[in-house]
Amino acid sequence: MSTVSVDERNADQIAYWNGPGGRHWVNRQQTQDVVLAPISAAVIARAAVQPGERVVDIGCGCGATAIELGRLVGAPGRVLGLDVSAPMLARAAERLPPELPVELIQADATTYPFAPGGFDLLFSRFGVMFFAEPARSFANLRRALRPSGRLAFVCWRAPRENPWLMLPLRAAYEHVPPLPQLGPEDPGPFSFADAERVRRILDAAGFRSIGLEPFDLALDVASGGGLDAAVAGVLEIGPTSRAIEGQPPKILAAVAASIRQALMPYLRGATVPLAAAAWLVTAASP
Ligand SMILES: C[S@@+](CC[C@H](N)C(=O)[O-])C[C@H]1O[C@@H](n2cnc3c(N)ncnc32)[C@H](O)[C@@H]1O
Repeated sequence: MSTVSVDERNADQIAYWNGPGGRHWVNRQQTQDVVLAPISAAVIARAAVQPGERVVDIGCGCGATAIELGRLVGAPGRVLGLDVSAPMLARAAERLPPELPVELIQADATTYPFAPGGFDLLFSRFGVMFFAEPARSFANLRRALRPSGRLAFVCWRAPRENPWLMLPLRAAYEHVPPLPQLGPEDPGPFSFADAERVRRILDAAGFRSIGLEPFDLALDVASGGGLDAAVAGVLEIGPTSRAIEGQPPKILAAVAASIRQALMPYLRGATVPLAAAAWLVTAASP
């Protein structure tokens, strides 16, 4: 983090996204963007992005949605892709077409000094569940919005509703110790699973007209590449990647074999569709 201050309570997440988390997402960027494409389409549709708008992409990661938003707003619109992860931003910068009005900044969304009222839309694909004190982060983000500006993001619902992440994790647990038990409000992929909590956070941050719409789909964890691709994919994302971090090759091979067996019944042609459940969240600034 070179340029601006960070919230020290986000230090663990900042280290993770600059370390193993960032590495996995950079490695999987192409495949992950294919797997998550239907979710991007749904949240971008809810955001109702207009040409010329000014958008913040919160936790923009390797840049897929910032680039898509840049195409939609065009010049004189503007997209600010903000993220704490240097390696993920480096990947985003590599693939960013130079003609797009997209700026990438390494910064903590909790503390970044946005120009007040400078944006029409706050947007995120899975980049808002990692704040230590989310009401503070969202209050800071809301200051970036003009009056009647909008918020649209997507976040995961509960683990039990997301077999695409939990089925491989359960298979991995045959060989590795379970991850430390996270509280429901601890930062992590499922920290926004509880709709009431999300409403509370956004209300405390000053948002109004808060809406959560369930979005259910089957995600092809193989992205059309068959069982081997599915196994390789799920080893590098979400809680499974965290659970196997640092394990020796012998254990990793055993985990991969168990995951393969667990995924086999779901193989359909070259795809492995597994159920996924998210919230499409929208809100407005007064
Ligand atoms: C699950 S990844 C999603 C990345 C990207 N939005 C996508 O869908 O491909 C979560 C992202 O949030 C970023 N992030 C976590 N905490 C953040 C913070 N406090 N401020 C800005 N970005 C943050 C991470 O670095 C990471 O890129």
